[in-house]
Amino acid sequence: MKTLNFGIVGAGLIADFHARALGDIGNVKLVGFFDSVGAKAQELAEKYSVMAYSSLDEMLADDGIDAITIATPSGAHMEAAVAAAKAGKHVICEKPLEVTLERVDAMIDAHEQSETVLGGIFQNRFNECMLPLRKAIEGGRFGVITYVGVYVPWYRKDEYYDGSWHGTWKLDGGGALMNQSIHMIDMLCDLLGKPESVMAYMNNAGHPQIEAEDTATAVMRFGNGTLGVVYGTTSEYPGRFKRFEIAGTKGTVVYLEDSFTTWEFAEAKDEDEEIRSKFGQVQSGGGVADPAAIDYKNHTLNFKAFIDAIEGKGGACVGGDEAKKAVEVILAIYESAREGKIVKL
Ligand SMILES: NC(=O)c1ccc[n+]([C@@H]2O[C@H](COP(=O)([O-])OP(=O)(O)OC[C@H]3O[C@@H](n4cnc5c(N)ncnc54)[C@H](O)[C@@H]3O)[C@@H](O)[C@H]2O)c1
Repeated sequence: MKTLNFGIVGAGLIADFHARALGDIGNVKLVGFFDSVGAKAQELAEKYSVMAYSSLDEMLADDGIDAITIATPSGAHMEAAVAAAKAGKHVICEKPLEVTLERVDAMIDAHEQSETVLGGIFQNRFNECMLPLRKAIEGGRFGVITYVGVYVPWYRKDEYYDGSWHGTWKLDGGGALMNQSIHMIDMLCDLLGKPESVMAYMNNAGHPQIEAEDTATAVMRFGNGTLGVVYGTTSEYPGRFKRFEIAGTKGTVVYLEDSFTTWEFAEAKDEDEEIRSKFGQVQSGGGVADPAAIDYKNHTLNFKAFIDAIEGKGGACVGGDEAKKAVEVILAIYESAREGKIVKL
């Protein structure tokens, strides 16, 4: 199997997780980092005994590099992704792919044109507990799905925002929804598709110093009539676990931080008891109040699926069009909250 050489663009908090995740994959070699702040690339390059590139062009001109991961602030993903496509490099990019649909589409188009793979990072899709939940939905076990709820009641200190790109429209693309709740909104899109329309409110009362929202609420309607609720915040001290609820005429599941606190179906199956016992315990804190308190193992699975796509093996790579969905939903919520109207997707 050919070894794939990776570069990492942006050498901040999550880049270190990328390096660790890549390190766990057999046919992958990390070659180097680039950061617009040279000292940051240097620091991680020394930690992993790899190169620090002095410019993006220098990294992309390196024939040894097959693919890059993008770990810059969200509104600075597109430039690196498009330049990489033009240089014939595959790209796996942090969430959100970008902060406007125009910028997301520019990335998708560039990779379509160069026939390189564009993948998004939504590592929660690779949680083991997603498999039985996906199977239950696909198998029609909920009957008519009447309700779905997404709750991300997290906490971020003022220091997280102060002097940072976090919570700015240009570089974060929003606040609690575009940065934090996006993982669960992506989970919703993955499991049920995009809603047909949304109606929302947002506010920043808990962190009035930021441009964007620190709290948002929305209601949604899906094409098949399912109704839904979204609540995301970074102002709930001390923060609670993220939750996903799905209910219908024949079943209810409540997912809480990679576990199931409810797994009940009118038509029981032998596997149900095993699922309840296997996923009965909350697995982790998952960044409830500390952005660094996440595991990198699901990033590894996300990267492996991307590599499978590069190698033409198909599989679960979160492609550009798939990763775009959560951005579309969040932008619709923002538009609804700003304009006080129902927004159709
Ligand atoms: N998947 C997850 O769970 C997860 C967790 C945290 C962050 N993220 C995402 O990762 C991305 C980065 O977040 P972070 O927390 O690591 O941010 P960070 O601020 O810690 O790091 C970003 C780095 O990018 C560098 N940078 C800025 N502009 C650049 C440019 N144009 N070219 C090269 N380098 C540039 C900065 O100097 C900084 O070192 C964001 O899109 C964020 O949403 C994802």
